Amino acid sequence: MAENTAMQFDENDTDILKVWGGKPLKGTIEVRGAKNFVSKAMVAALLAPGTSVLRNVPAIRDVRVVSDLLRLHGITVDYQPEEGVVTIDASDVSRADVADVHTLSGSSRIPILFSGPLLHRLGEAFLPSLGGDMIGNRPIDFHLATLQKLGAVVDNTYKGGTHITAPHGLHGAQIHLPYPSVGATEQTLLAAVLAQGKTELTNAAVEPEIMALVAVLQKMGAIISVDVDRTIRIEGVDHLEPYSHRALTDRIETASWASAALATRGDIFVKGAEQETMITYLNVFRKIGGKFEVRDDGIRFWYPGGELNPVAIETDVHPGFMTDWQQPLVCALTQANGLSIVHETVYENRFGFTDSLIRMGAKIQLYKECLGSLPCRFRQSNFVHSAVIMGPTPLHGADIDVPDIRGGFSHLIAALAADGMSTVHGISLIDRGYENFRGKLRALGATIE
Ligand code: EPU
Repeated sequence: MAENTAMQFDENDTDILKVWGGKPLKGTIEVRGAKNFVSKAMVAALLAPGTSVLRNVPAIRDVRVVSDLLRLHGITVDYQPEEGVVTIDASDVSRADVADVHTLSGSSRIPILFSGPLLHRLGEAFLPSLGGDMIGNRPIDFHLATLQKLGAVVDNTYKGGTHITAPHGLHGAQIHLPYPSVGATEQTLLAAVLAQGKTELTNAAVEPEIMALVAVLQKMGAIISVDVDRTIRIEGVDHLEPYSHRALTDRIETASWASAALATRGDIFVKGAEQETMITYLNVFRKIGGKFEVRDDGIRFWYPGGELNPVAIETDVHPGFMTDWQQPLVCALTQANGLSIVHETVYENRFGFTDSLIRMGAKIQLYKECLGSLPCRFRQSNFVHSAVIMGPTPLHGADIDVPDIRGGFSHLIAALAADGMSTVHGISLIDRGYENFRGKLRALGATIE
């Protein structure tokens, strides 16, 4: 079994990147499978004894964390980074040491999705206290309520985490999500496919990565239907088979490079980019004044010259404008001519990254009010969740700290667009979901060290 090394994952000891900006990014890079699908598909392999194969898997830290978590449960995982192939042999599943699960999970939220598969395979699951990015509270109440409806018993007082059992097995249920949560929808899918009887999930999330997970589960033998009104129906089956599947391309990484092309006045061909999952982003990119060309093997994004236009956007669940597209785009909007407005309706606290942009010369004002028309859970709250960006503003190099993966990529773009040298601290957070981004930056002509 090949063990992954830090080298294969393009991570290194230093957590600081020096960036000499002011140069358009130009060239070709490749984007592989979606971080937010690949990790879930790897967990799905747990549902079936035998060997599942996932292709187009990027060498990112989240893949390593899920591989290691699977190994802790006695599963054999082999990853070939060059080919992008993960092979998961889930013939035997065993109980993991609670302390090891704690140590390994770090800030990952993936362990909670192990719950359903582990309940089916072992009759119990353990959840460490969960992390994630610093973008809001990120509670897991929907997940636990869903598992309880399916028959699980939750003990929150167990060894610094949560112990979940299913003394009578899992059974189908009627579940309504208070908000179309991506994770809670995946939780329901992964737990209900092998539950006894039918499950009806209303107000479900229908992101492309979730539809891809439905496709994987269908290949495995599950019976799942998705209605136009966000209702997902799952008919439990008594066993599943291993799968072979190619991951869809990462639409968040694709949009991040597109925004980098705009902000640096560059020209980037993203090999592997898929139009179908990017429709909403592409519309906004065009309104701002960016050009794109969809080819069979990817999408070219470029700045055609002239002034960029301001836009008003509201983040939303699919098919709305993704919250994860927001931060790199905000950086590009600092170069648009006029007032842009961004209303963040998915997370209550996703504008922390703008502090550094302001220190680099951006003019951004934050508001607690909803600056948009979408019904928003944060309307009556004190959360700063709207931003007005006044552009164009020249950016200058600075010392900046990466707050979370997407905010961090936004900082990186700002440093690349800025005059002078920037020192970006905490850069390894970006390794969670951007494969070989240092190599890609060099391929696009960036000067970094
Ligand atoms: N929420 C709750 N209770 C819950 C679960 C969610 O209140 O039990 C709230 C959250 O606090 C948030 C909203 O519901 O305000 C949406 O959260 P969701 O469950 O949809 O997010 P997630 O599953 O935790 C995934 C991605 C995120 C992405 C969101 C939204 C993964 C591993 N993460 O998170 O990706 O922003 O969906 O699309 O799939 C990223 O890649 O940088 C990232 C943060």
